[in-house]
Amino acid sequence: MGQIIIAIDGHSSCGKSTLARSLAQEFQYKHIDSGAMYRAVTYHFLEHKINIQDEDTVKVLLEDIDLQLENNSAASTLLYLNGRQLDSELRSQEVNHHVSQVASISAVRKKLVLIQREQGRTSGVVMDGRDIGTVVFPDAQLKLFLTADQKVRTKRRYEELQAKNLLRDLTWGDIEDNLRSRDEIDSNRLDSPLRVAEDAVVIDNSNLTRAEQNAMTACLARQRGA
Ligand code: CDP
Repeated sequence: MGQIIIAIDGHSSCGKSTLARSLAQEFQYKHIDSGAMYRAVTYHFLEHKINIQDEDTVKVLLEDIDLQLENNSAASTLLYLNGRQLDSELRSQEVNHHVSQVASISAVRKKLVLIQREQGRTSGVVMDGRDIGTVVFPDAQLKLFLTADQKVRTKRRYEELQAKNLLRDLTWGDIEDNLRSRDEIDSNRLDSPLRVAEDAVVIDNSNLTRAEQNAMTACLARQRGA
């Protein structure tokens, strides 16, 4: 069995991490959810109440951040920020609102891309995010770009938050607005904007079941050497 790199990029809430986990389990690879890393940095900045427009303070605080990643048996990324495990905190409304702004800061991206590349050095990896096939691993053997209809994506995120008891007072409209505004910021930022890599396979999964999508992408991964 080969040890390839599978890069999964795409719009907000179109099931990138779910697909990444399933491919990682199938091929016994590790899964890295790069979005969780941007969320962790955002959480840290919010916790320290820093002004994210202030580049000097951002740089100083970035130096204090130690991010450690681990995979559990279900190929979920466990994330430790300065030794403390973060999980549902990363999905809060406040983090949702600020994460794309934080992710547009070059100093933040530089630090996280280094950690992400390190993760790809040793063994088979499935990494999902926005710039994995274009910037982090431009030589990845398989690049997937996922998208889905806006309504379908909003429904999935609504149901996911509901299932995790994180919906609180959020309305359908709040969720839809957040997905739309993050996609807009992610696609238009100067550093590493969300783009379809030239050699990516684009999958619109609006009408695909998880099983269909898993089968299709696992087949592609095998063809590329997984
Ligand atoms: O789960 P969802 O698709 O809603 O988002 P995520 O993957 O957790 O990513 C959260 C945010 O982090 C994105 O909206 C981007 O602003 C940023 N991000 C990024 O800029 N680059 C990545 N490789 C991954 C995430």
